[in-house]
Amino acid sequence: MSARFIECLDVGKTYQGRTGAVEALRGISVGCDEGEFVCLLGLSGCGKSTLLQMIAGLEAPTTGQIVVAGRELDGPSPATSIVFQDHGLFPWMTVQQNVEFNMKARGVAKAERLARAAEMLEVTGLSGFVSRYPHELSGGMRQRVGIARALTTRPRALLMDEPFGALDAQTRGHLQNELLDIWARERTTVLFVTHSIDEAVYLADRILVFTPRPGQLAATVPVDLPRPRDPRSDAFAALSSQLRAMLGTEGGSE
Ligand SMILES: Nc1ncnc2c1ncn2[C@@H]1O[C@H](COP(=O)(O)OP(=O)(O)O)[C@@H](O)[C@H]1O
Ligand SMILES: [Mg+2]
Repeated sequence: MSARFIECLDVGKTYQGRTGAVEALRGISVGCDEGEFVCLLGLSGCGKSTLLQMIAGLEAPTTGQIVVAGRELDGPSPATSIVFQDHGLFPWMTVQQNVEFNMKARGVAKAERLARAAEMLEVTGLSGFVSRYPHELSGGMRQRVGIARALTTRPRALLMDEPFGALDAQTRGHLQNELLDIWARERTTVLFVTHSIDEAVYLADRILVFTPRPGQLAATVPVDLPRPRDPRSDAFAALSSQLRAMLGTEGGSE
């Protein structure tokens, strides 16, 4: 068995839809070490969300196997926590209740829940908003709640599916920096799905580039730029254009 913290071994996924089978992923063998920040980059529809959901234990692979923290998955692992693109908050719950939810689901006692919620609300700058409901928050604040909720179970890995995709550029930039701060402080492993080349180059230690459907691993690209990274630097631009060539998006928008 491998020593990597998260390891996908020849993973494939075929969905059985009403109109026939859809092969979303084929032959994915990728891994990540504890503490790494890895971005999964590919065009829309290439199977990024599918892979992340399988690593989260929410979907089973059709072929191959996934090992997280030394155990082959047969459901969600306590070592991981997922953050969805659309924040996935419960609209009828306050920020406090939303942030406590994952802990409640795992049977964490009330005193411990309150303490951990307070800590993660502080980390994400939400302490003044605990009584608000999701509809009373901006998009960026809602994503912060999703991140706070995911962190409360002290996951060894955060699995993030385009968490900032729906935000305006400025808010997105803020949250990217906050996430890097959290990652540096907590030493959490991060697997981060994005279709944005610039976002991947800004965030990742390593970028896994996927082909269009069925998604296969096209390349593994280390990002050796020092942090904080400057998107206007020549090195940043050079890597971005290399990735654009790999994705086949030259001349088009991301
Ligand atoms: N539950 C599902 N049932 C059938 N097809 C699905 C399902 N989820 C995703 N797909 C299909 O699998 C492919 C990959 O989807 P997805 O993983 O969402 O890609 P991405 O996140 O890279 O945009 C797409 O063609 C999508 O339509
Ligand atoms: Mg997706």
